[in-house]
Amino acid sequence: MNILILGGGGREHALAWAVMQNPKCDKLIVAPGNAGIAQIAECATLDIEDGERVVDFCNVNAITFVIIGPEAPLAAGVTDALEAANILVFGPSKAAAELEASKSFTKEICDAAEAPTAAYARFTEAGPARDYIREQGAPIVVKADGLAAGKGVIVAMDEAEALAAIDDMFGGEFGAAGAEVVIEEFMEGEEGSLFVLSDGETLLPIGTAQDHKRVGDGDTGPNTGGMGAYSPAPVLTDAVVQKAMDEIIAPTMRVMAERGTPYRGVLYAGLMIKDGQPRLVEYNVRFGDPECQVLMMRLGAQALDLMLACAERRLEGRRVNWADDHAMTVVMAAKGYPGAYEKGSVISGLDDIEETSRQMVFHAGTREREGRITAAGGRVLNVTARGDSLREARDRAYAMIERIDWPEGFNRSDIGWRAL
Ligand code: AMP
Ligand code: GLY
Repeated sequence: MNILILGGGGREHALAWAVMQNPKCDKLIVAPGNAGIAQIAECATLDIEDGERVVDFCNVNAITFVIIGPEAPLAAGVTDALEAANILVFGPSKAAAELEASKSFTKEICDAAEAPTAAYARFTEAGPARDYIREQGAPIVVKADGLAAGKGVIVAMDEAEALAAIDDMFGGEFGAAGAEVVIEEFMEGEEGSLFVLSDGETLLPIGTAQDHKRVGDGDTGPNTGGMGAYSPAPVLTDAVVQKAMDEIIAPTMRVMAERGTPYRGVLYAGLMIKDGQPRLVEYNVRFGDPECQVLMMRLGAQALDLMLACAERRLEGRRVNWADDHAMTVVMAAKGYPGAYEKGSVISGLDDIEETSRQMVFHAGTREREGRITAAGGRVLNVTARGDSLREARDRAYAMIERIDWPEGFNRSDIGWRAL
């Protein structure tokens, strides 16, 4: 079959890499792709948030299956447009994607599902929000309601910080995403991410991961899109996963189906675990980036079979064939990220790294210029490895980094510290 992947980050490189290993894939196009993806698949220019254009592109290129990587095309209804045109698609509908696009929507669904999550209140005006913060005290969490590229969440350790966050959000710092604000109870515990496929009826957990959101070693500095990840996440034991499935995921999916907006695709549940009890932090309606890179490294070619089964609504009876392995990815970012950074610096040494089913350098923001790989984004490379133990995966990933010559880049040196 001919397959189209939408997106152009490390997540999509990992998806493309896994898909290409499966003989069911005859041809793969990725839009827009990046320099690493271009080494294994065809890249195309396409407005990936415009459903009609994506449908036209599929018709012209005889595409029969579309995998949507990022949240923006999902929130824009690209799945709905493809389904209306009878093109098979992996990714939830616009209505189901509200689970990520709106935090207040998710809270309503959690209430209906009686899923354990942080207590909360919603505000559309600064005055009552400030009063609520003073009443509740700190630590407390302030969130812009809409999509804010992971930057709309302030975990305030004192009241002044929380009040400043309210001023920023209602002051327009987050644009339309900040028109409504959700204020949440601060949950203590250890975080983990659970990835579950849903075809609308059947659920299949396909792995766990833990990421590192802070830019600096020791989990210090500002939040980023993620500086590294590993799978599996030790905090998500089988018992905790079972509890999360029974108490959080399955009831959420039931409520989504009952309201006429069944969820199909991968659901990424961010969980806070304390004393063996998981509570929901947030849902995302896509694979995490860079969590996807470690999941794909572990799943390999079967990832395509699983995504196809999900899209074709035949997940029932399917299983994941797990090797007893571990994977880690370390993000290399441009100096300055998550603040301002330069683009265009040259990265060398990549050609000397052997890429196998146990180690891969997935590209995020890269561009080829005159035969050389250059940095074209904040997060640039995802150095990913698999091993029989997390330590082995880590050692292999950091050994690859040693061979990459990119003075304008940096990486954390302690990915996995919590688990190791
Ligand atoms: P989110 O974008 O909702 O995942 O939030 C980003 C990060 O903020 C999460 O990964 C958590 O580390 C933290 N966070 C969000 N909500 C809470 C909460 N209620 N209690 C504690 N930490 C939270
Ligand atoms: N790594 C966090 C995310 O993809 O949302």
